[in-house]
Amino acid sequence: MQKKIANLRRDYQSRTLDITELSSDPFLQFKNWFDEALEIANETKGFEANAMTLCTATPDGQPSARIVLLKGFDENGFIFYSNYKSKKGQEIETNPNVALVFHWHDLERQIRIEGQAGRVEASLSDKYYNSRPRKSRLGAWASPQSQTIDNREILENNMQQLQADYGEEKPIPRPPHWGGYRVAPSMIEFWQGRSSRLHDRIVYQKDNEAWRIQRLAP
Ligand SMILES: Cc1cc2nc3c(=O)[nH]c(=O)nc-3n(C[C@H](O)[C@H](O)[C@H](O)COP(=O)(O)O)c2cc1C
Repeated sequence: MQKKIANLRRDYQSRTLDITELSSDPFLQFKNWFDEALEIANETKGFEANAMTLCTATPDGQPSARIVLLKGFDENGFIFYSNYKSKKGQEIETNPNVALVFHWHDLERQIRIEGQAGRVEASLSDKYYNSRPRKSRLGAWASPQSQTIDNREILENNMQQLQADYGEEKPIPRPPHWGGYRVAPSMIEFWQGRSSRLHDRIVYQKDNEAWRIQRLAP
């Protein structure tokens, strides 16, 4: 079994990446790649272009990683939503340094982002929360994310109670412990798989307010 895993490999040949063809603005470059990923996601069942790994760490450096969904981005950063009391939320509270990773398998691409996370404005969290399906809004109240629970019935009972309380019409307020984070990047790396493991890696590093662009060895 182990032998078969060790033999799994793919040669990446579909695309190339060079500094001369990149935007000098990393957010524009991200947008170009993200748009391409979205196009493929539209055609590929099960591919979520906006799924990204979020890595947080405790103040003494114990990292933890999980997938979250990108819900927006601009020149100020990359936004996702979660429970502020969750493990990730508590880690961000005490250590805002985080990393994000996108892997777009069909494009043979990876994007790595490093930066600092902070809560988005309450008005933005409200706007996004209110755009979610009603049951997702109730779910944010029903689940004490990251806490141990004795059984699944606890969640189901919470949900039933909330559905009874709010019915079909009553406005559901955003839980104060639920909202968005924005990751303000200091580094963004674009990785394009190439043949024979000689991949292309171009990194944008924030230097005061300017972005320095360099090629890295694969
Ligand atoms: C495809 C996918 C998308 C997810 N999106 C989110 C998300 O946007 N926000 C979130 O809090 N958790 C999301 N999760 C769940 C997280 O991976 C994780 O289980 C949860 O946030 C608890 O993490 P924590 O205990 O480390 O805080 C997603 C999981 C998957 C597999």
